[in-house]
Amino acid sequence: MKEDDVILAVSGLSKHYKYYKSLFDVKKNVIKAVDGVTFNVFKNEIFAVVGETGCGKSTLSKLIAGLAGKTSGEIKFKGEPLDYGIRGKNFRKKIQILFQDPYSSLNPKKKIYKIVSYPAVRNGIIRKKDRLDFAVSRLKNVGLSENAALNYPHMLSGGQRQRVGIARCLSVSPELLILDEPVSALDMSISAQILNLLTDLKEEAGMTYIFITHDLKLVRHIADRVCVMYGGKIMEIAKSGDFFDKPAHPYSNILYNSMMFFDSKNKNEALKNKETIKPDGGKTTGCVYFNKCNASQDICGKLEPQLKDIPNGGRSAACFFPFS
Ligand SMILES: Nc1ncnc2c1ncn2[C@@H]1O[C@H](COP(=O)(O)OP(=O)(O)OP(=O)(O)O)[C@@H](O)[C@H]1O
Ligand SMILES: [Mg+2]
Repeated sequence: MKEDDVILAVSGLSKHYKYYKSLFDVKKNVIKAVDGVTFNVFKNEIFAVVGETGCGKSTLSKLIAGLAGKTSGEIKFKGEPLDYGIRGKNFRKKIQILFQDPYSSLNPKKKIYKIVSYPAVRNGIIRKKDRLDFAVSRLKNVGLSENAALNYPHMLSGGQRQRVGIARCLSVSPELLILDEPVSALDMSISAQILNLLTDLKEEAGMTYIFITHDLKLVRHIADRVCVMYGGKIMEIAKSGDFFDKPAHPYSNILYNSMMFFDSKNKNEALKNKETIKPDGGKTTGCVYFNKCNASQDICGKLEPQLKDIPNGGRSAACFFPFS
C-alpha cells in the first residue's frame, strides 16, 4: 500500500480514564483504555479490530468518531488532523459510526424518517421539509420498504433496526464507517444479511470500514487486515491471509486457537496452547501481555516491545519473540 492510500493515520493515541475504585477512595485510579496506539487505515479496505472484552476497541472507535476526547496522540484523516470542533463539521460527515445494539441506539420517541434524515438535516445536506422523501429513498437503499419511514423503532425487528442505523450513517455519504460489533446482537441468519448489505454498500460507495468484533471467523470472512488489541495496546497488525495462516503474536495465537477450540478436532491443540497466568500478576513494566504469555522471557517483563515489521511477512507485532 502507498502512503497516498492512507485515509486514517493514528499515532501514539491514548485515552486514559480516571475513576474512583470505591466510595472511600481519596485518590483516583487511571485506566488506560487506549494506550499509545499507532496504525494506518487504507482507502477502501476493511480493517478489523479484534480483542477480548475491555481491550479498548470501542474507546478507540469513539476517539476516531469524535465521541470521546483523547488524552494524547494524533489522528489524521486524509492528511488533516481530526478536529471535531466548530471547524470540524466536515469530519462529522466523512466519518460515521454504527453501534452494536440496534435496540438502544435509536431514539424510541422519534419516527424512523426523522432518525434517518437527522444527520443530513444537521449537516445542511437537505432541508427539513424534504426529510420524508429523503428518508424513504435511503430506507430503500438498505432494503426497507417506505412504510418503515412512519414507524417508531419499537415496531421494527432487530435486523430492521440495524438497517435503519445503517441508513442513518450513510445519509451523509461518509468515506469512513466504523462498525462497532454491528451484528453481534443479531441472530445468525439476520447477521449474514446485514453483513451482505454492508459489503454491497461498501462496494457501491467506495467506503472504508473499521470493523470491530470479537468474532475471528467473521474477520476471516470479510477483513483485508486484522489489528489485534490487548490491554489498550496493539499486539499485531497483519494482512488477513497472513494472520490466519499463522498469527505472529503469542496473544493472537491464543485468540486464533480459541476460535479453533470449538472445532473438536483442534480441541487438544488449543488446550495445549492455553494461556498460563503467572504468579506475579499486577506487574506494570514491560509487555502488557507478559503475565499471561506462555512464550515470554525475562526481557518481556522489563522492556515494552514496540510494534514493528516482521521480516518475510505482511505483518507487524509488538513482541520480542514473534512467530514467523
Ligand atoms: N467512560 C468510561 N469511564 C471509565 N472507564 C471506561 C469508560 N469507557 C470505557 N472504560 C474502560 O476502558 C476499558 C476499555 O473499554 P472499551 O469499552 O473500549 O472496551 P471494548 O474492547 O470495546 O470491550 P467490549 O468488547 O466489551 O465492547 C474498559 O476497562 C472499560 O471499563
Ligand atoms: Mg466495545
